[in-house]
Amino acid sequence: MTCRREKSVMFEAGAIQERIARMAEDITADYAGKDLTAICVLKGAFMFFADLVRRISLPVETDFVRVRSYGAGDVSSGRIELIKDVECSLTDRDVLIVEDIVDCGLSMDFLLRAFRARGPKTLRLAALIDKMERRCVPVRVDYAGFVVDAGFLVGYGLDYAEQYRTLPAIFRLNIQP
Ligand code: IMP
Ligand code: MG
Repeated sequence: MTCRREKSVMFEAGAIQERIARMAEDITADYAGKDLTAICVLKGAFMFFADLVRRISLPVETDFVRVRSYGAGDVSSGRIELIKDVECSLTDRDVLIVEDIVDCGLSMDFLLRAFRARGPKTLRLAALIDKMERRCVPVRVDYAGFVVDAGFLVGYGLDYAEQYRTLPAIFRLNIQP
C-alpha cells in the first residue's frame, strides 16, 4: 500500500538522536552502579529502544513486550491486552519500560500495574513522546524525549495502520479523510 497522506516534519532524525543521547546520559547517571532491565514495548518503540540502550553505559538486560491498545486507525479501542509477555523475571530488578508515545495513558497504566505486581525493585517509564495534554489516566513519564500537545505522529517506529514506521524522522500526519 502506498502512503499518500500529507505529513509535515516534526522532529528531524538528528534532533531525535541528540535528545536520545541526553536521555541516555540521565538514565546512566540515575542508575549508576546498578544493572538495568530495559523492556521494549513493541512494535512502536523498537527504533527508539535500539538507539537508547546502545547509549546507556551500564549493564543492560533487554526484553520485549507487546501491548495492543489501538486498532488499525488513530482511535484507542480502550481495551488493553498483553499479547506478548517478557521472558525474564522482573522480581527485585531495576526495570525501565521503554515506550514510543504515551497518549491517553491507558496502555502504560495497564503495563505499569501488571509489572508492579511482579515485585520489581524499581519501575520507571521512558517514552520518546509524551502527549501530556491528552492524558485521561494519571501516568508519569520519568524520562520523556519530547512533550507534544495534539496531533497524530508517525515515523521512527510510530505507525498509522502499520505504515510509516521505517521513516528516520517523526512527522505529524494529516489524517482527515
Ligand atoms: P494510550 O493508551 O492512549 O496512551 O496509547 C498509547 C499507544 O497508542 C502508543 O503506544 C501508540 O502505539 C499509540 N499512539 C498514540 N498516539 C499515537 C500517535 O500519535 N502516533 C502513533 N501511535 C500513537
Ligand atoms: Mg506503543
